Amino acid sequence: MRKPIIAANWKMNKGPKEAAEFVTNFKLDASELEKVDVVIAAPFVDLSVLVGNGFGVAAQNCSDQDSGALTGETSVAMLKEVGVEYILTGHSERRSIFGETDALINAKNCKILDAGLTPIFCIGETLEERESGKLEEVLKTQVTEGLKGICNEGILNVVIAYEPVWAIGTGVTASKEQAQEAHVIVRRLVAELYSTELAAQVRIQYGGSMKPANADELLGQADIDGGLVGGASLEPESFHSLIKSAVATVA
Ligand code: 13P
Repeated sequence: MRKPIIAANWKMNKGPKEAAEFVTNFKLDASELEKVDVVIAAPFVDLSVLVGNGFGVAAQNCSDQDSGALTGETSVAMLKEVGVEYILTGHSERRSIFGETDALINAKNCKILDAGLTPIFCIGETLEERESGKLEEVLKTQVTEGLKGICNEGILNVVIAYEPVWAIGTGVTASKEQAQEAHVIVRRLVAELYSTELAAQVRIQYGGSMKPANADELLGQADIDGGLVGGASLEPESFHSLIKSAVATVA
């Protein structure tokens, strides 16, 4: 049984003061945390404000290097030291705006796993790729390249986030059928690289305009194990509502 994981991606929103306010207004029951892993991925300056409040904390980026003359970079060890447990990798904004390649994303995934932390490894196709029939090809390249060199034990500590680029921040959500179909493809790709047994244990989140109005039907799909949420995670109430939807999927 895969434990659902609902993660907020605040992107470049909220400084430490707003993060602290959010925490004050965001109260989870122990029973919710038992059933669902809850994570907030926040700007670096907020991380120490968020740590220690019952939910998991994620950084939105890290270096693939350990230390050195790399102005502006933050190492995985530094993030671990402040209590971060998860780190986003491969987000479409990092791929498209900051030019991150599959090879760099792979290096970060390996570095994060080596430190005993969990990468939330994002993949997904653009509208153009989908419309030209390249969905599977794009996902295959991203999955294969991004997971290169990760062993059987490692893959169990990876969370994959399927985020169709055309659904991110657009208000256009993949239908439950489109999302489920893509998740099945991703799980099959993982099975081809590892095994059906291991792939069945890997958590795959959906991301892209997930909100309270569509969370039940998305999270109700057999291969959708949670969500990576931008806009709807910025207010405690709407984020909490998504967590409740995930709790409702757990028997
Ligand atoms: P939205 O939920 O705002 O579409 O963002 C999704 C996302 O990019 C999460 O990483």
